[in-house]
Amino acid sequence: MKTQIHFHTLQLLLFTLSLFLNQCLSDPDPLQDYCIADNKNTFFLNGLPCIDPKQATSSHFATSSLSKPGNTTNMFGFSVTPTNTINLPGLNTLGLVLVRVDIAGNGIVPPHSHPRASEVTTCIKGLLLVGFVDTSNRAFTQNLSPGESFVFPKGLVHFLYNRDSKQPAIAISGLNSQNPGAQIASIATFASKPSIPDEVLKKAFQINGQEVDIIRKKLGG
Ligand SMILES: *[C@@H]1O[C@H](CO)[C@@H](O)[C@H](O)[C@H]1NC(C)=O
Repeated sequence: MKTQIHFHTLQLLLFTLSLFLNQCLSDPDPLQDYCIADNKNTFFLNGLPCIDPKQATSSHFATSSLSKPGNTTNMFGFSVTPTNTINLPGLNTLGLVLVRVDIAGNGIVPPHSHPRASEVTTCIKGLLLVGFVDTSNRAFTQNLSPGESFVFPKGLVHFLYNRDSKQPAIAISGLNSQNPGAQIASIATFASKPSIPDEVLKKAFQINGQEVDIIRKKLGG
């Protein structure tokens, strides 16, 4: 009887532990030191195949991709420059990326989500208003000055806004997936290809057909 109870306690402990560990995991752990992306591959798998480790060089683990500002001349006034398996092939399978976010005066990275990653962002330059909304529709916002950071939990809708009307802002974000994905709420709903039917958008946003057309046109849909 006693052993039976102990067995159950152990089972419960292992079960709890496995839940906890699963919570902590992002991309699957690498099975080797590194797997430098072989970008010439023509087949698909979860991640990219690796080059022969003997061919690895320091340059596979280095990039200057984030050194230059992105072009923020677009309707929202922002640009995201990521590290990825093309410009930094050594990050393949490591479960992370770093991105540079440039935002023009009063520009915005509009409400969007990353289905596969949490994100921690640091303001490098300028004055940012950042925030996210949780699944109970509670909003959390914060003003960030250079050196200050904020975290956006995985999958939740979030934004970054440059509060200064003239000076550009820069943020650097780390995300815990090599392929976080990004979905901008306004673009996904009003500028998808092909379009979501008008009657769906009218009902969902409680607007009329004319308003659907106006928003669609403005967002390039
Ligand atoms: C930035 O993008 C805009 C719009 O696409 C384009 O007209 C402009 O030439 C670009 N500027 C630079 C410096 O590439």
